[in-house]
Amino acid sequence: MSAHLRDDDRPLPSWTTRCVNCHTGTSKASAFAPPLTHDALLGATSRRGGPISHYDATSFCRAVKDGIDPAGVLLGKSMPHYRMTDAQCMALWRFVVRR
Ligand code: HEC
Repeated sequence: MSAHLRDDDRPLPSWTTRCVNCHTGTSKASAFAPPLTHDALLGATSRRGGPISHYDATSFCRAVKDGIDPAGVLLGKSMPHYRMTDAQCMALWRFVVRR
């Protein structure tokens, strides 16, 4: 599974692209990246100053592959864009929203 930054097609070294490198912990306070948990992703909330939204499998995969959140707001450039199949992304979605 390869990943790159927005506006930069070079593949990132694989050791930099593990989700948990940046998405640590379950609290929003002082984290580099928001928590990837059931409650954080499925909860209806305003993200990045956009309208209230929540994730589903489709919008999660759009965020991970194309860097766009459920309200259509662009994610920060430090969130890589991942190249993966729909099946891989569905498996990842089920993993992050498990309880
Ligand atoms: C290099 C650091 C980094 C890595 C690695 C990374 N992310 Fe992110 N991610 C971020 C940052 C920073 C944000 C917040 C961007 C913003 O708020 O604009 C983010 C945001 C997100 C969001 C949106 C969360 C929300 O509440 O809207 C999702 C979903 C996400 N990442 C999934 C993943 C997944 C899945 C992986 C691994 C396959 C991953 N990220 C790897 C840095 C990273």
